[in-house]
Amino acid sequence: MINVDDLVDKQTNLVSRRLYVDQEVYEQELEQIFARCWCYLAHESQIPNPGDFVSAYIGEDPVLVVRDSRGKINAFLNTCRHRGMRVCRADQGNAAAFTCTYHGWTYGNDGKLVGVPGYKEYYYEELDMEKWGLVPVAQVDTYKGLIFGTFDPTALSLQKYLGDMAFYLDCFVDRREGGSEILGGTHKWIMDSNWKFAADNFQGDGYHVPVTHISAIRVGFSGSVRRPNNYFGRSLGAYTGNGHGLNFRREPFEYTAGVLNDYMNDILPNMEERLGALRAREITPINGTLFPNMSFLGSPSHATIRVWHPRGPDKVEAWSWCIVDKNAPPEVKEATRLGSQRIQAGPAATFEQDDGENWGMCTASSRGVVSQQFPLNYQLRPAPDRFDEELPGVISDSPSERNQRGFYEYWAEMMACRPWR
Ligand code: FES
Ligand SMILES: [Fe+2]
Repeated sequence: MINVDDLVDKQTNLVSRRLYVDQEVYEQELEQIFARCWCYLAHESQIPNPGDFVSAYIGEDPVLVVRDSRGKINAFLNTCRHRGMRVCRADQGNAAAFTCTYHGWTYGNDGKLVGVPGYKEYYYEELDMEKWGLVPVAQVDTYKGLIFGTFDPTALSLQKYLGDMAFYLDCFVDRREGGSEILGGTHKWIMDSNWKFAADNFQGDGYHVPVTHISAIRVGFSGSVRRPNNYFGRSLGAYTGNGHGLNFRREPFEYTAGVLNDYMNDILPNMEERLGALRAREITPINGTLFPNMSFLGSPSHATIRVWHPRGPDKVEAWSWCIVDKNAPPEVKEATRLGSQRIQAGPAATFEQDDGENWGMCTASSRGVVSQQFPLNYQLRPAPDRFDEELPGVISDSPSERNQRGFYEYWAEMMACRPWR
């Protein structure tokens, strides 16, 4: 095992570029991080009915998320126990059973092996069908519509893993009765970037916004529904532990006119009832990452959740969705969908293109043997940790790299295989 203490220096807040290009580091990540942490799989609204399924990944392992005929949400390794073929090759659909297209083994939507061609004639009924069902993901649980899974049976509960992040996540997925839903399909694209550049950016990088995205902001593409001279408002960061962090605005809402603003004002009483006055009236999440690789981004004008699937040290496959309040009227959903596609919910979105370009070049330049001798700097705003009675987590003024420092500290902890706490 690699000694990661040499790679993430917590005293100086410097991070080795080997994290972004090294095959050995990558393989250890798959084992110590992706095969152990809770990873985001899908949204319950994608599989509302018995038999509904959707494909997902945990790290590089293909996973099938399926609501079985009795209505229970299960997740299995999407690989046939016979010769390893992908059992379900569709992105989503509805099925009572899945028949492998190689030799025809058939699995029920509860994962059980229910059919084997030649079971009598060739296996002489000696194959123990009970033993050869799909491999289940060790733990599957949901948080307000978000389905997560972990391959580690000893991992702490999802609720504990999310910890204080749930407080902020609620402002995103639990604003009104009915919760949230995914609107439309999945955007998928591959970038020549290490997955962590994306996760760390969404975790707390307010610093890049006025530089990287300045062209889009100047032409009014930021999608802000706040008064234009107040785009950044009072932004804060919160590092909530277990590698999770986010940026949010803390200030009373103040919207200009428009369908989304009217909507936000309409639902305010309901939000206040559910979330309390502080979260309903003063907290607007901007962007965040749930360790390791699920990120979200939103304002009333656009809202996306996504997963950064690792595909080798220098490749990442982004899967992104537009997320809306389930009970929002159609015109509000449509406005959110359009805003998301323009701003940041797919490879053609303006902000998305700006970001991808950066992460690709950060990765490419980290390949140089000489470049690798020079670590990356995460020292922005090295203030002592600050806490706020009303807000969970370590609070920082944005921009700050406090969240990213937390992300890499936790990364190092998981990589060193330290036990759950
Ligand atoms: S690989 Fe699936 S039946 Fe042979
Ligand atoms: Fe960005």
